[in-house]
Amino acid sequence: MKRPVLVTAGPTREKIDPIRFISNYSTGTFGYEIAREAKARGRGVILISGPTCLEAPRGVRRISVESALEMKQAVEKEFKNCGCVIMAAAVSDWRVKTQVSTKIKRRGKGKVLELVENPDILAGLGRHKAGKILVGFALETGDLEKNAAKKLKTKHLDLIVANRLGKKGRAFSDNKTSVLMIDKFGNKRAINNKTKKELAKIILDKALSLNIG
Ligand code: CTP
Repeated sequence: MKRPVLVTAGPTREKIDPIRFISNYSTGTFGYEIAREAKARGRGVILISGPTCLEAPRGVRRISVESALEMKQAVEKEFKNCGCVIMAAAVSDWRVKTQVSTKIKRRGKGKVLELVENPDILAGLGRHKAGKILVGFALETGDLEKNAAKKLKTKHLDLIVANRLGKKGRAFSDNKTSVLMIDKFGNKRAINNKTKKELAKIILDKALSLNIG
């Protein structure tokens, strides 16, 4: 029996106060399509998802989280039982240093929020891989190949899927998109103008061909 595939998806939300948060434009579509496709191939699938409007694909075990720290905890708990991890979530790189439990009131002047860096979940997994396939994503506004290759190496990944932010700031919401895949052997493949559903199949084919699990 092949071990389950762990997929993360969606944005994280970093609370400022009970009403406000920091987040990003991720819709979660990519991760959900990958989870759906892995399930269709008969794999067990655990989907760890930040807040999205999407329904969990049938037969997929979804664990809903909100912040990067919650996502980290859930991923680390499920990691040991999985054969392959596909980190499609757009994890917020920062959180507010001090969250407050009551609404921050307007005081007629500006407001400075101090941010601290969130841990890099994927890099943490890369340090304890134990034979698992690790797939990361990279969303870039410039130097796509160089930045993606660097992430592949520093996070100890087997495969990276790099995506350039489109002209109008789109990428998250576009249904058709283009990506560059780079594997740990340095093989590169540009895939242009495909739906996220089509890309999910291509990414899974590649990830699972890298074997193990
Ligand atoms: N990632 C993660 N934990 C974080 C940030 C990112 O696990 N705190 C994962 C993402 O899910 C993605 C990969 O790392 O698979 C690359 O994310 P990206 O935001 O492109 O890169 P960063 O490592 O955050 O680097 P930078 O923001 O400087 O480009």
